[in-house]
Amino acid sequence: MRFKPDLKWSDVTPNADYMNRRQLMMGAGALGLGAIAGPAFGAIETVPSPYSTDAEPNSLEDITAYNNFYEFGTGKGDPARYAAALTTDPWSVQIDGLVGKPGNYDLADLTQGVTMEERIYRFRCVEAWAMVIPWVGFELSHLLNRVGVQPSAKYVAFETLVRPEEMVGQRSAVLDWPYREGLRLDEAMNPLTILATGLYGEEMPNQNGAPIRLVVPWKYGFKSIKSIVRITLTEEEPPATWNMQNPREYGFYSNVNPEVDHPRWSQASERLIGGFFAKRQPTQKFNGYGEYVADLYADMDLAEQF
Ligand code: MTE
Repeated sequence: MRFKPDLKWSDVTPNADYMNRRQLMMGAGALGLGAIAGPAFGAIETVPSPYSTDAEPNSLEDITAYNNFYEFGTGKGDPARYAAALTTDPWSVQIDGLVGKPGNYDLADLTQGVTMEERIYRFRCVEAWAMVIPWVGFELSHLLNRVGVQPSAKYVAFETLVRPEEMVGQRSAVLDWPYREGLRLDEAMNPLTILATGLYGEEMPNQNGAPIRLVVPWKYGFKSIKSIVRITLTEEEPPATWNMQNPREYGFYSNVNPEVDHPRWSQASERLIGGFFAKRQPTQKFNGYGEYVADLYADMDLAEQF
């Protein structure tokens, strides 16, 4: 089932039902029966991820009403307002550069044979707000291994669709389109790095980057590029949109780091989206995923390479 933008929020899985289903799934997983987890709304079959946080996820409403997706405008409400215009079927992703099997892959091809895992991450955005989002996706490494990474490849570059007829924000030059991002190959191969195709057990809402987007949970949100149409393996560090736009404020690495402030604001605390009060909490280095990723940066000065 495609996510229908005209559905009312009350029509889709409410948080409490979702949590019950999730607890059921966790139980099934403990018994080694992960794959039997039946989605309550018949959408996507998933198994729980070992990397999920125990934190309560934000509501579907929070996750789909407060977004950054400049292709649809610069306001946080613009994506919810305008992204329904985007056609996401058919969809293909060009995979090229230093790969064994370059080509134009249909979305169904990319997800074929991969187990969709449900991963709940605390996702921090560029202006230091945080959400907990139950993504559905699979490890990027599965795809890269399938297409074959050549030994000389050191980075992975990503590009978003350019289609100003459907993406109203692209009719002005607020950013240098297409939106671009990149990861070092070892970051891309880390099991925390996923390609997400849905959330809350449903296919991806357009405003969250349908039909396929990156999620890199230990980095600021802007690394998690939406609506991907191209993945290129390269030898050189690829261009990244916010780094190109303002290299003083946004580095290539963009690891969540309370010790390195953004020139215009502190990164030491983050605002939690949801609830009646704007709660703040201390930011955790690498967004709390240090045990899985700190080794990637062991030899680097993260204040220099931010
Ligand atoms: N991807 C594209 N193509 N265009 C964008 O403007 N914004 C980024 C990232 N991916 C953006 C993008 C930023 S700044 C953030 S914080 C996250 O998407 C927001 O993801 P969410 O709306 O699913 O929470």
